[in-house]
Amino acid sequence: MAYTPKSYKSKSYKAQDFGHLKGLDGISDAQVAEHLSLYEGYVKQVNALNEQLASMIGQGKASGKTPEFAEITRRLGFEYNGMVLHEYYFSNLRAAGELRPPSGSGLSRALGEGFGSVEQWQADFHAIGEMRGVGWVILFQDPATERLTNHWITLHQDGVPAGFKPLLVMDVWEHAFMRDYKATERAKYIEAFFRNVDWSMVERRFQETGAIRPAA
Ligand SMILES: [Fe+2]
Repeated sequence: MAYTPKSYKSKSYKAQDFGHLKGLDGISDAQVAEHLSLYEGYVKQVNALNEQLASMIGQGKASGKTPEFAEITRRLGFEYNGMVLHEYYFSNLRAAGELRPPSGSGLSRALGEGFGSVEQWQADFHAIGEMRGVGWVILFQDPATERLTNHWITLHQDGVPAGFKPLLVMDVWEHAFMRDYKATERAKYIEAFFRNVDWSMVERRFQETGAIRPAA
């Protein structure tokens, strides 16, 4: 992608509008609203950390030996991915979704080739979602080989394969479902998640070379 100066016009991120997420099946509007406000907190944190770092750099205080500089820099990965992964997550959901991608779609064929069948891919994705701990399950595409793999991401940033393209993102932090389900009912939430996937969005992410997510 050619660099254009306007890419840097806005130095801060804006929380995206996910107003389309009303009336999901098995994930209540109240749950979504609470989750969206948490997402907005990540956007604020990213902007705040970037401002703090810019200020330190401007004052000549950027030093690996300065605890404050090091801590803020380390937190960037957590806050950035907290923002970015939620943008992927919310934008791959919609009301009245289908349980699986349409048979014959590019994604469906690729999942069949990679996992034996779409059902087997889905069973694997679901199983990863039931792993203990908080994190994310992500179907990634390796842009170099086009191979599809399911990954567990601890917290927001640990385990993300560098440069891989997220196709389907599922949040399995307890805050994603505990208004609607008990902590022990994560499997029910995962089933609900699959009833609300926007497969047309996942297919677009699969087909297009660049990453697709709402951002500004
Ligand atoms: Fe979340």
